[in-house]
Amino acid sequence: MRAIEYTEYGSPQVLTLKEFDKPVPKDNEVLIKIHNSSVTAADCIMRKGEPAWGRLILGLFRPRKRFRILGSEFAGEIEAVGKAVQKFKVGDEVYGFAGFSVSAYAEYKCIAEDASLTIKPSSVNYQQAVAAVDGATTALFFLRDKGNIQAGQNVLIVGASGSIGTYAVQLARYFGAHVTGVCSTPDLELVKSLGAQEVIDYNQEDFADRLDC
Ligand SMILES: NC(=O)c1ccc[n+]([C@@H]2O[C@H](COP(=O)([O-])OP(=O)(O)OC[C@H]3O[C@@H](n4cnc5c(N)ncnc54)[C@H](OP(=O)(O)O)[C@@H]3O)[C@@H](O)[C@H]2O)c1
Repeated sequence: MRAIEYTEYGSPQVLTLKEFDKPVPKDNEVLIKIHNSSVTAADCIMRKGEPAWGRLILGLFRPRKRFRILGSEFAGEIEAVGKAVQKFKVGDEVYGFAGFSVSAYAEYKCIAEDASLTIKPSSVNYQQAVAAVDGATTALFFLRDKGNIQAGQNVLIVGASGSIGTYAVQLARYFGAHVTGVCSTPDLELVKSLGAQEVIDYNQEDFADRLDC
């Protein structure tokens, strides 16, 4: 199979298309033919090896072998299942999050059936599904599970036009909060269109000066 590898930290130029053996699923794993992956902020941070302390995990001088194929979000079709797999079958259209196991910049990936993996709704295509993984689940986890968001609260979302922020704005509105989004000038209209009642342009204003948000 083809996959995109990097063996040294740096700019996108370090990414190289190469041939690898097609992975074989273990008993508890499914083999996914990946239709779409994405470039997340985390993928870029790992590729650059920044901040430097991250290299304690990723590899001090160069990325460790298990991190060399990036890509944490994927959407695709199940091509084979391990003999103990119960939740999925061949042909299922799925999407999910590989986390630190990455390696979604590849034609195939194996992942445990109990990992962050679910059936793709038929109403969305693979491209749409893959864009609703890391940003959406991170926003939901922090707003609902960690922040215990409540209707009527004022919520400030810094980075409202990004992968996490665009979902955070919509979810905060869904939970009944009054939302203020912070982003750059070109994205102000986008953030408003997602439901933010107030927007702050970080090039024009420091949100910390806004006492009413
Ligand atoms: N589970 C986790 O904890 C988790 C998961 C994923 C990501 N992250 C981290 O969360 C952060 C955001 O991730 P993302 O994927 O949403 O990134 P992203 O898609 O690159 O979005 C970045 C956002 O930050 C805004 N921004 C840039 N400079 C700013 C400034 N000076 N002041 C205020 N806002 C500014 C951008 O606005 P404009 O585009 O309008 O300039 C954009 O809305 C990253 O650090 C990422 O590593 C954490």
